[in-house]
Amino acid sequence: MSIMVTGGAGYIGAHVVRLLLERGEDVVVVDDLSTGREDRVGEATLVELDVADGDAQQRLELVMREREVDGVIHFAARKQVGESVQRPAWYYQQNVTGLANVLAAMEAVGADRLIFSSSAAVYGMPDVEVVTEDTTPQPINPYGETKLVGEWLIADAERAWGLRSASLRYFNVAGAGWADLGDPAVLNLVPMVLDRLARGERPTIFGDDYPTPDGTCVRDYIHVLDLAHAHLAALDRLGQGEERVFNVGTGQGASVAEVIAEIGLPRNPAVGACWAGGAGPPRPDVGRRWCRCRCRPSRPRTPRRPRVRRSPRGRRRRRAESSSRGRSDRAGRRRCRCRPRPSRPRG
Ligand SMILES: NC(=O)c1ccc[n+]([C@@H]2O[C@H](COP(=O)([O-])OP(=O)(O)OC[C@H]3O[C@@H](n4cnc5c(N)ncnc54)[C@H](O)[C@@H]3O)[C@@H](O)[C@H]2O)c1
Repeated sequence: MSIMVTGGAGYIGAHVVRLLLERGEDVVVVDDLSTGREDRVGEATLVELDVADGDAQQRLELVMREREVDGVIHFAARKQVGESVQRPAWYYQQNVTGLANVLAAMEAVGADRLIFSSSAAVYGMPDVEVVTEDTTPQPINPYGETKLVGEWLIADAERAWGLRSASLRYFNVAGAGWADLGDPAVLNLVPMVLDRLARGERPTIFGDDYPTPDGTCVRDYIHVLDLAHAHLAALDRLGQGEERVFNVGTGQGASVAEVIAEIGLPRNPAVGACWAGGAGPPRPDVGRRWCRCRCRPSRPRTPRRPRVRRSPRGRRRRRAESSSRGRSDRAGRRRCRCRPRPSRPRG
């Protein structure tokens, strides 16, 4: 008996492959090597194959029969949100058709155990502090939609032919279990920060007005090795409970500024983040407007009074009175007392 890992040459898949090999499993990796690398699969057999291809189902069946596959861990998918917005049909083809081919092959050969790489992207932007499995999924992009459709497809296969499955909704995956298995893509926060530091540049923070303590975006980061262990635990426990969908995160958020400080500061205290647009770290909103010279709070603006035509003599008199009080300029705005009135060129 063996375990098939689709996408096993990729970042997360390669960690799971290595753990499976370490515990003596027979592993066959199916990967088209579009983002994965051959040297990441170690002693496992690699079959180069696009799971979304027209003949993928037959080829998968062949491999499953030859290698007596009884369980599949399905990672093979596209994962870039922006790309999914630009190429939605391709994302559905890759992520949904690819999964459908894997399920059809599993049904044909009687392999009935599946672990599916889902994503917290299925939740969209929920208005809750902590996202649980009971939070209603409302994906906001095609990538998240393909993952949710994948979960539905799997639930239907369970009902139709007795598949046993678990869908794991990962949050933000980071780190490396082994030095040679780091995330090769510079798409997520941690690789982006490391990439900037390696080039001797300061990481840039985009977005400083989130409703969080330091104003930067808070997310839940999970170490890739913990996530890999979660796959093995789920595989071992399949069929022992009714649950099918699990969030996999730490339950604790970290802000972008905190992550950058954690990565950069211990090694080089001189390395700090810079804020996009030069805005600087956000300050708490004290709910008051301040005079530009910061001497005292300015008064809230009041609506302008309607203009009334007055005689030129009256206008001259009122202007003389007001300048003797020294508090308003010509437009009637209150001026700060601590600054001298701007001098005008004489002429
Ligand atoms: N990395 C994250 O933060 C994260 C978060 C949530 C969910 N996920 C999901 O986890 C899975 C793995 O992600 P990853 O970070 O390891 O990505 P990755 O790009 O490193 O790995 C994906 C692997 O699948 C292969 N692949 C892609 N499409 C394929 C296809 N049609 N046929 C065969 N092989 C194909 C790639 O070559 C690669 O080896 C994906 O399904 C992704 O959606 C990742």
